[in-house]
Amino acid sequence: MAEMLSILQQILVAGNETTTNLIASGMMILVQRPELQERLRAEPDRIPTFVEEALQPRIPRPGPLPPGRRRYRNRRHAHPRRLPHPPLLRLRLNRDEAEFPHADEIDLDREAPEGHLAFGRGIHYCLGAALARLEARIAFTLLLQRLRAIRAAEGKNDYTHVPSVILRGLKALYLEFEPA
Ligand code: HEM
Repeated sequence: MAEMLSILQQILVAGNETTTNLIASGMMILVQRPELQERLRAEPDRIPTFVEEALQPRIPRPGPLPPGRRRYRNRRHAHPRRLPHPPLLRLRLNRDEAEFPHADEIDLDREAPEGHLAFGRGIHYCLGAALARLEARIAFTLLLQRLRAIRAAEGKNDYTHVPSVILRGLKALYLEFEPA
């Protein structure tokens, strides 16, 4: 029973704020880049790519998770002999040009947009990745269909994030729009 409750708790926590943050950071990208709103309305088949692009944590544009703990940020600290055992590295940024070119750009024509590391990799790859992608695709499809001229509410947003080393979410995002 205790094990079941802990699994349930993990799924509830892992599956709730993450997708909320993804939708909020995607909306932030859309208000900062209004031309993407137009393109996605005209070409909704690009929405899955947009979701992947919103997932990749960017600087300064946020994804739903922080880019990883930057404890080993220089070569000296990254030396294998200095890493604890087992190593405590969690990288969520893919800056491998061969695999994920021009990573800081939102590119709706990216050929392999799922090459980011937002859902982790390997044995602990996110259990809810498919669900999160589906939720976000549905959310952006409906929001773009039902709301026009989505923009940031004037003077209300400071785009600060909830302080956390695990998640990355805006404290608030105030939007204005015209109903479709
Ligand atoms: C945007 C949404 C999400 C992001 C960015 C995300 C990210 C991640 C990441 C990076 C990991 C790996 C953590 C590690 O390496 O230790 C992970 C694991 C996990 N995620 Fe997600 N997640 C999301 C949504 C969800 C949803 C919707 C669910 C469930 C309904 C979920 C359930 C889990 C669980 C149970 C694990 C642990 C898997 C394991 O350790 O084997 N996640 N997630």
